[in-house]
Amino acid sequence: MEIIIQPDPAAAAEIAARLIARLIREKPGAVLGLATGGTPLRLYCELVKMKLDWRKITTFNLDEYAGLPSQHPQSYHSFMREKFFRHINIAGNNTHIPNGMAKDIPAICERYEKKIRAAGGIDLQLLGIGTDGHIGFNEPSSSLASRTRIKTLTPRTRRDNARFFGGEKNVPHHAVTMGIGTILEARHCLLLAFGRKKARAIAAAAEGPVTARNPASVLQMHPKVTVCLDAAAASCLEMKKYYRWVYENKPDWQNI
Ligand code: PGA
Repeated sequence: MEIIIQPDPAAAAEIAARLIARLIREKPGAVLGLATGGTPLRLYCELVKMKLDWRKITTFNLDEYAGLPSQHPQSYHSFMREKFFRHINIAGNNTHIPNGMAKDIPAICERYEKKIRAAGGIDLQLLGIGTDGHIGFNEPSSSLASRTRIKTLTPRTRRDNARFFGGEKNVPHHAVTMGIGTILEARHCLLLAFGRKKARAIAAAAEGPVTARNPASVLQMHPKVTVCLDAAAASCLEMKKYYRWVYENKPDWQNI
């Protein structure tokens, strides 16, 4: 796990954008796993500014609320359309987001997994982290081998997301999410976290035991993970001095 600590979210998001831009230039038909929420917004703005060629790129989003129509302003379909897809030249057919309105949720989950496999697997999976350590909507106690399925959100996640819904009572209880096993199959995972609120979850994920109590800790088992943090999100890391030194002294050939 490579942990990159930057002074502020803008600098951290810029590094993440450069990583994605490099992949797209090297592999114009790359498959990206995308995320929603407050965290990736700056990254999406950076990527839009870079004017990359998205025509051959395929995307799979991590998750979608169950029972929220795709036109709902807080659905992740709306989020992706408004915040990202309508600003780039991606082909609509190449973008995939789980259908949270499906009648047969297990069937669409299985199809989602098949589509990811048929696309050749995910080259780079973007991730945020919940204050409870969730990745996607894999809440604590999720199986570390789980596949795409429906999950029940924890009270904490519903509280954290109440700001988007004008109150906790409006936040859905369920979501369809890629599983942890699905996420682990991506060839590269890129996790972003900003702000003091994420500091404990990040410390537990990077330096704690691998445990379903903090689903992001499973990334310790993945061969290629980059974590881009601002100083506040890094503040509880015991080894932050070392991570900073490593990044500042990277050999040229390793530079992003
Ligand atoms: P946030 O959510 O980016 O809105 O903080 C992250 C997450 O829940 O994965």
